[in-house]
Amino acid sequence: MLAGKRIVLGVTGGIAAYKSVEVCRRLVDAGAHVIPVMTAGAEHFLGATTLSALASEPVQRSLWNEASPIPHTRLGQQADLIVIAPATARLLAAYAAGLSTDLLTNTLLATRAPVVVCPAMHTEMWEHPAVQDNLAVLRRRGVHVVEPDSGRLAGGDVGAGRLASPERIVAACAAALDGGPMAGWRVVVSAGGTREPIDAVRVIANRSSGKQGYAIAAEAARRGAAVTLVSTVDLPGPAGVTIERVETAAQMHEAMARLAADADVVVMAAAVADFRPVAVAAGKWKKDQGAPPIVLEPTPDILAALGAAKPAGQTLVGFAAETDDVVANAEGKLRRKHLDLIVANDVSRPGVGFQHDTNAVTLIRAGGRVDTVALATKERIAGCVLDTVCELRADSSHPTPTPAEPSAEQGASS
Ligand code: PMT
Repeated sequence: MLAGKRIVLGVTGGIAAYKSVEVCRRLVDAGAHVIPVMTAGAEHFLGATTLSALASEPVQRSLWNEASPIPHTRLGQQADLIVIAPATARLLAAYAAGLSTDLLTNTLLATRAPVVVCPAMHTEMWEHPAVQDNLAVLRRRGVHVVEPDSGRLAGGDVGAGRLASPERIVAACAAALDGGPMAGWRVVVSAGGTREPIDAVRVIANRSSGKQGYAIAAEAARRGAAVTLVSTVDLPGPAGVTIERVETAAQMHEAMARLAADADVVVMAAAVADFRPVAVAAGKWKKDQGAPPIVLEPTPDILAALGAAKPAGQTLVGFAAETDDVVANAEGKLRRKHLDLIVANDVSRPGVGFQHDTNAVTLIRAGGRVDTVALATKERIAGCVLDTVCELRADSSHPTPTPAEPSAEQGASS
């Protein structure tokens, strides 16, 4: 996928600039023609000679002293892909605002090629609303964002903002270039267990790690889809996936309803609490007040609501975490929630379901076909789920249940 592609590698001024050397080397090893462009800030952190020695062409850095009279448009017009690693807060702001102050920002404005940005900065900067707003603007314009990792930062700090690994960056470049079988599809996935507050410090939670949902989101992105992951867990986002963090069932409901409205595929892999406390105690409930009187009420059934509002042509996938009568219970959920596919896992079995790196599932389609997938990694299960989604969408005759269908099982368990 990368072989023979002209890739402009933009390097901006952050301590992670040294890692761009490894990104460059990997892209060249994969057969890409890499043209490095460094900003003035980048040269404080990395010698241009190093990058020139490893890239396919010498580093370019100026609008004014290049051999070409119009380097600001030539590079962007000829590129198959532009990747910025690392991308500073300043670069993201300039790109979002459409400022063209140097060779790199000019190149970004003068291209129709896909662009991958790999932010790296201190946690406070990464979390600043200005940075997140700029990223939201860029994402809306179709820019691929490789979310930073969490870990050790410059100066001994620890937190989110570390440049993604060269491996993830190169994978994101390949995905951005590869249309893939799901190219053009908007996919929304939920992952993790919701947490329902009891008081200011305590929650009702469940054992979902988010691994299965993350694996589905990563696989969908690898196949070319534009993926948004609504997540309750604090795992680094898969390459090219947009993450929306939520905590409670109500927050997940709001996010999923908003995002599903114009999605092609929706997958609810999250474990949503079925009940939440009616009232949240103000402050921390003191031990000497005795046991708190926790009264529970049902949460909204998000998947049932998505099924009731499903737009024409959307493929809606649910999961069923069962311990007995697995297939019968899952079939009931498939019908009640107007799903196209339900993925049933018997979470009483060793290695299956919550927290494990593995899973084993039964895939039940609305049309009645049932397939089983034996114990395998969650990545492989994700591949099987998405293979089935692709088959369903390729077969335009597949029955797409609508809310108008009568439901004989109203009020049954979620
Ligand atoms: O996160 P991991 O540790 O990797 O574990 C993966 C998993 C076990 C969480 C996953 O494989 C799984 O089974 N997810 C669904 C868990 C669940 O809540 O199942 P359920 O049978 O209770 O719910 C059926 C469906 O309705 C699910 O798609 C669920 O997301 C949805 N639901 C449930 C309740 C509710 N209030 N709203 C919902 O949308």
